Amino acid sequence: MRKFAIVAVAAAALSALAVSQPAAADDKKDPEIKVPYVPTHEKVVTAMLKMAAVKEGDTVYDLGCGDGRIVITAVKEFKAKRGLGIDFNPDRLKDCEARMKEEKLTAAQIKQLTFKQGDVLKMTADDFKGVDVVTLYLLPDVNKRLKPILLEGLKPGARVVSHDFDMGEDWKEDKKEEIKTDRSYPHTVYLWTIKDKKK
Ligand SMILES: C[S@@+](CC[C@H](N)C(=O)[O-])C[C@H]1O[C@@H](n2cnc3c(N)ncnc32)[C@H](O)[C@@H]1O
Repeated sequence: MRKFAIVAVAAAALSALAVSQPAAADDKKDPEIKVPYVPTHEKVVTAMLKMAAVKEGDTVYDLGCGDGRIVITAVKEFKAKRGLGIDFNPDRLKDCEARMKEEKLTAAQIKQLTFKQGDVLKMTADDFKGVDVVTLYLLPDVNKRLKPILLEGLKPGARVVSHDFDMGEDWKEDKKEEIKTDRSYPHTVYLWTIKDKKK
């Protein structure tokens, strides 16, 4: 598989032609920008959650959740209290159900997880109240659009981690790490921590 970045550039160019349609975050219409599905390698999932210092009691959201692996791992291995995955594609939500079964989650862990269909670009700052960690494997354009929403909605100390794509030059990451896996290309994980808004 070629690096997601290459697919991403093509997708970004295509998305520029897409027609914007106003809709709620949880509606069933196609989103304005559809990021292609490339699951994050398990080793990178662990690196992302470690870098975000996910701990017992945290609430973790994955925007564009694919098969749900990031929030499932957050609940199962990192003891997060709650995981929410959002994806516009109903097939991905079926993948989430399948993965929860494969991972042999307990009934309690299943209760801690929510997967819902929706367009992440329709989310508002209010959607991020009480969220400790947001994970992203989207596209530069999408990250750029999400940035003001995340900055407004997330509380000080909340963390954002992104696989392979940064948030633009005006939001410099606090940490950046390269991860090697058995895939033919390296992965980069970025971390940002929300600062105290009064300062
Ligand atoms: C690169 S994959 C990442 C999947 C998962 N987060 C992971 O890291 O394994 C991007 C995912 O975002 C979903 N997606 C793309 N655009 C979206 C949008 N505007 N709103 C919601 N989900 C979207 C795709 O269906 C796909 O599953």
